[in-house]
Amino acid sequence: MSDIKVERNGGVQILRFNRPEKKNALTGAMYDALSDALEAGDRDREVAAHAFLGVGGVFTSGNDIGDFLQSSVGDQAVLKAVLRFIRLLPRVEKPMLAGVDGLAVGIGTTLLFHCDMVFASPAARFQTPFLDLGLVPEAGSSMLMPARMGYARAFEMLVLGAPMDAESMRAAGLLNAIIDADKIEARVLAAGMALAAKPPAALALARRLMRGDAEAVAQRVDEEAQIFARQLQSAEAREAFTAFVEKRAPDFKKLRTS
Ligand code: COA
Repeated sequence: MSDIKVERNGGVQILRFNRPEKKNALTGAMYDALSDALEAGDRDREVAAHAFLGVGGVFTSGNDIGDFLQSSVGDQAVLKAVLRFIRLLPRVEKPMLAGVDGLAVGIGTTLLFHCDMVFASPAARFQTPFLDLGLVPEAGSSMLMPARMGYARAFEMLVLGAPMDAESMRAAGLLNAIIDADKIEARVLAAGMALAAKPPAALALARRLMRGDAEAVAQRVDEEAQIFARQLQSAEAREAFTAFVEKRAPDFKKLRTS
């Protein structure tokens, strides 16, 4: 079975992260499957909204770190798939929804700032540990997160890497509601079906007005991506990825030059 399961339910296209043995960590093939489905769904009259869901009590643990390690030693294939996906996010035309149970790490959290409605379980944990991996914020998060949740909270998440629970994210304005894990999918689908019943042209126009300048966000995605790609090759990032794969704590001290 594919690591991204694409299903349809009453006008809602479900994109399900489905790699439970690796906490739904995203590989290049998974990013491409997500991009293919978003593009196809946007073109398909039968689809009114996209919905991201996880499996096994996990949303996603973010980018596959083994893949990052490959990128850091020169393999460009995964980076290409990541870039395709994050460049697409601000340009998706139909509403995007998400239901988060458990961990939402890295892109698992930054993706949510492109979504129009987000529901989470009480067990949801949101974390963006880019800096601890020697990396920088991606997917427009350096712009969208301070704008949505305020600089102080965004800095705490994006630079300090502090995890946030569902209640904090609701207070920060990211969540529509906190729902018991076993009811999340039904709630996401109900929201998607309510959108499917709306006049489609007016829905698209209202969403475009509310989301603001998509090209400005896309431009920030590109700026971040250039720095991110450079940092991927850094000794700091390589140490962080290698430490994860070797199941040990990273040792950044040895990289100090002064
Ligand atoms: N990339 C690759 N593999 C990952 C992964 C990731 N992002 N997240 C989890 N896995 C793998 C683990 O290596 C482990 O594989 P193994 O069984 O072959 O050893 C398996 O998934 C289970 O993960 P484990 O770490 O044992 O589970 P946990 O519940 O103790 O911790 C996390 C879960 C998500 C907190 C922890 O795995 C983690 O910190 N992952 C990295 C998250 C991250 O930094 N993502 C990138 C953000 S930019």
